[in-house]
Amino acid sequence: MTRAWSNPLRDPRDKRLPRIAGPSSLVIFGVTGDLARKKLMPAIYDLAHRGLLPAGFSLVGFARRDWEHQDFGELVHDSVKEHARTPFKESVWNRLAEGIRFVQGTFDDDDAFDRLAQTVKDLDAERGTGGNTAFYLSIPPSAFPVVTKQLARSGLADASEETWRRVVIEKPFGRDLKSAKELNEIVNDVFPEESVFRIDHYLGKETVQNLLALRFANQLFEPIWNANYVDHVQITMAEDIGLGGRAGYYDGIGAARDVIQNHLLQLLALTAMEEPVSFAPRALRSEKIKVLSATKPLGPLDETTARGQYAGGWQGGMKVPGLLQEDGFSKDSTTETYAAVTLEVQNRRWAGVPFYLRTGKRLGRRVTEIAVVFKRAPHLPFDSTSTEELGQNALVIRVQPDEGITLRFGSKVPGTTMEVRDVTMDFGYGHAFTESSPEAYERLILDVLLGEPSLFPVNEEVELSWEILDPILDHWAKKGAPAAYPPGSWGPPSADEMLERTGRNWRRP
Ligand code: BG6
Repeated sequence: MTRAWSNPLRDPRDKRLPRIAGPSSLVIFGVTGDLARKKLMPAIYDLAHRGLLPAGFSLVGFARRDWEHQDFGELVHDSVKEHARTPFKESVWNRLAEGIRFVQGTFDDDDAFDRLAQTVKDLDAERGTGGNTAFYLSIPPSAFPVVTKQLARSGLADASEETWRRVVIEKPFGRDLKSAKELNEIVNDVFPEESVFRIDHYLGKETVQNLLALRFANQLFEPIWNANYVDHVQITMAEDIGLGGRAGYYDGIGAARDVIQNHLLQLLALTAMEEPVSFAPRALRSEKIKVLSATKPLGPLDETTARGQYAGGWQGGMKVPGLLQEDGFSKDSTTETYAAVTLEVQNRRWAGVPFYLRTGKRLGRRVTEIAVVFKRAPHLPFDSTSTEELGQNALVIRVQPDEGITLRFGSKVPGTTMEVRDVTMDFGYGHAFTESSPEAYERLILDVLLGEPSLFPVNEEVELSWEILDPILDHWAKKGAPAAYPPGSWGPPSADEMLERTGRNWRRP
């Protein structure tokens, strides 16, 4: 039997080898958008720089602009120079640039899609892309139906026995359960579910994948990871930026649909799920589906949820506009820029443990973290004054920007008879590893080319997430405008009240 490492060209210590994508091309719709410029094209360059793309890899941009191939090439070049994670190397760029093509057209233009089909075919003949193509829909969901229909009509969606065709969809996957179902039907009409890759870029983050290692590679945490020991869980994704320039996408969508429905519910699923049988896609997804099916909003919603909208004011020494003054937002917009919800995972492991999820724009700091807060010790054999400054033990997974894990526990203050105060023990990626973490989109684009679906939510997960959120959104829809909060703060007063009612407080990371 030939073993993989018997090939003299393969060094068994080189962990990259099994992960190099096979012959393929990638078509991006929406190349002039922010996501393509800041994330997708730089990630493709980073993959090329790391030697993970196949030799004939080709990138096709499709857009309305009246461009030649080299105009698109310049856009990719500039976005790579500005945003790539790895250093710019002329030789890497030149090889990538050889496979860059542009097709001009609108989504309703049959000829343009026929030209795209011809381009994909030509690339296969010239560069050996093996007939394998992924289509990245970095476009508004309203354009999904027409583009998927065009892909079907022009034959671009058709794979043969030996080739594959895949479609990559960016969120939002609908705006509620009903529209998500419609969207899934439209996409599944053209592409079978195993060819659909729904991007939730949080799953591409190293720190998020590390949740699986933390929980399932260690003996230390799992025995206390349940309602017997955990008091509550706080999942926070806070941003200090506002929504200037994003009205088209965000007005009428809001923080809960933008972030809680996808990123935060995926974090909850990974935090709360049972151990999967393996990390095979089906095994992992079935645990996430199980835990999302058990997750419900905890009421009464007036007391257990909060929402707000940032007002104008001063933040970090700068005068910033409120949402209603941002360009493009309707002057009476009721879109929330802060959302907090209380959820309960109704199973034996978690019954009675609230999961508090919050997200917001123009908050005090950019930080994403999962804090598992433990119950107090059942008995403290100290003078009551000795433990006045002792909080609750907590394990905090710092997703970003200061990636790592913190364990908070009580310790004796030196020199006192017995005063106990909180201290922390820290793991930081920067200290523990020399490798820098790949960007989420590097991992996810590579997984699409490899046909590795573990990190992509299936439509059942998307629909379950809407089932959890819909009652809260319906409740808010009846309530009119959300309360204003000052920029640089931690949200509206109702957010603090929602936890104080239960005798708890939000962390101030
Ligand atoms: C996106 C949201 O999914 O995630 C944005 O639509 C948000 O509103 C972004 O700013 C944040 O991503 P990250 O990786 O910077 O936390």
